[in-house]
Amino acid sequence: MSEKKPLRSQAWFGRQDKMGFYYRSFLKNNGTPHDQFDGRPVIGICNTWSELTPCNGHFRALAEHVRTGVLEAGGYPLEFPVSSLGEVTMRPTAMLFRNLAAMDVEEAIRAHPLDGIVLLMGCDKTTPALLMGAASADLPTIGVSGGPQLRGVYRGTIIGSGTNIISMSEQLRAGEITLEAFHEAEAAMNRSAGHCMTMGTASSMASMVEALGVGLPGNAAIPAADARRNELARLAGRRIVAMVHEDQVLSSILTRDAFENAIRALAAIGGSTNAVVHLIAIARRAGIDLTLADFDRLGRGVHCLVDLMPSGRFLMEDFYYAGGLPAVLRTLGEQGLLHRDAVTANGRTLWDNVAEAPNWNAEVITPFAAPFKPDAGMAILSGNLAPDGAVIKPSAASPELMRHTGRAVVFESIEALHHAVDDDSLDIDASCIMVLQNCGPKGYPGMAEVGNMPLPRKLLQQGVRDMVRISDARMSGTAYGTVVLHVAPEAAAGGPLALVRNGDMITLDVPARRLHLHVDDAELAARRAVWQPPAPHAARGYVKMYVDHVLQANDGADLDFLVGRSGAPVGRDNH
Ligand code: FES
Repeated sequence: MSEKKPLRSQAWFGRQDKMGFYYRSFLKNNGTPHDQFDGRPVIGICNTWSELTPCNGHFRALAEHVRTGVLEAGGYPLEFPVSSLGEVTMRPTAMLFRNLAAMDVEEAIRAHPLDGIVLLMGCDKTTPALLMGAASADLPTIGVSGGPQLRGVYRGTIIGSGTNIISMSEQLRAGEITLEAFHEAEAAMNRSAGHCMTMGTASSMASMVEALGVGLPGNAAIPAADARRNELARLAGRRIVAMVHEDQVLSSILTRDAFENAIRALAAIGGSTNAVVHLIAIARRAGIDLTLADFDRLGRGVHCLVDLMPSGRFLMEDFYYAGGLPAVLRTLGEQGLLHRDAVTANGRTLWDNVAEAPNWNAEVITPFAAPFKPDAGMAILSGNLAPDGAVIKPSAASPELMRHTGRAVVFESIEALHHAVDDDSLDIDASCIMVLQNCGPKGYPGMAEVGNMPLPRKLLQQGVRDMVRISDARMSGTAYGTVVLHVAPEAAAGGPLALVRNGDMITLDVPARRLHLHVDDAELAARRAVWQPPAPHAARGYVKMYVDHVLQANDGADLDFLVGRSGAPVGRDNH
């Protein structure tokens, strides 16, 4: 019979010497009985609660449900805080700090006497940050998302977070609604605990947690305010103790098959373009060389089944009542579009989890034969304007603009855009292509969600609601439009995007996956010879380290020295 692997935490708590005294004694200061150090699994509850991250504001209560589950299963729970990333409040963008938070998570796990980890995550960047850090540490790990908010209801109309902010702010600019109505809608939109309830980045990433198998079935869609979210947290607390006993480390779940399932699930839910950057970053922490080409290849032929905002009509609450992600995964499995044997956190295969999943509402989760939007995977573009790739979400774009040639109107920075966009003398019409430079990982810095540029006011007043827009930025997962994002290399790194000038002609051809700047090589070389990189954003601190080391969007925008994993070896004594 094989020897059972000693628990990692026993390197601290199992010692009967001076250091063992230290390790146990200080934890006894809150009333911990001695028997908690007897070799039972020590479970870290990694919490991103913060009042500055309102989407995760209910996480102290959620952690208590995890704690109950851990105790019920015979584990010893220890909750610890890590950096939290509030999407709407952090400047210049929460994405600048995703890698910093991932470092925090990785090192907190490695430094402490923990055997298993429960990740509490919700607002956009908290999910990839925690998964990235945990993947590099590679202990047994289970994910618990905080859940979406209840539907927004404004004057009897359903409104979705983010999506209706964008549409209502454009209505305000166009003079179609009053400021009073705008303020009233603010309170009506975010009316309960939880993260954005459209299929934005938070809901997309919560779906990825479930599709990857890191979370329990139901993780994606149970509303934060629904008691079943607390039940899921409690069950995760129980399960992580078993995962430690079974030595089911995160890398046994985060396999290439799991990522391929996630990519197809992303297409089937019409998920956020941000998930492309995050999945690549998480995969590379786990040693999987996921590429943009994987998204294009695997997403082809996958239909968007879910009629949710920003592309559709419904919200996450409706998605949950209709059957949630298990119903979508079942449909994919029946079409031969899943690796059915991928192992999940509950110890069962993905197919075991979803084979019998019901669909209670075929309007919300449409059948594969009559999908909400056909062939809706991410399209990965390339060409002389984006040699290393660019991303567009066809399900959020206007069909008539998917093949379009237009005159470039160039903005060198987000400030230049804001300064010019409502100027009636701006030389632009609906057929033009708006180009925004210097908003990528190094350029902004942090690759802000500004790619869905506001349309010029004079065109809004003419009734124009979409134009082709191209940038090295990201866009909010709750946004929509014919928006080409993540152009790589970015302008600030000297990519061809930096060389575009007003009046150049550009062709976007999504069916051919092409993004072409109609400027010949000699002219581009001449422009490059006089191009100057933008001035550095910072001379010191984290921002300098970030700009010096951040990878381009097609490589996940991680820091170059964080790719891969080091595991969680027990460190040296501090005495
Ligand atoms: Fe937190 Fe949208 S602002 S998920």
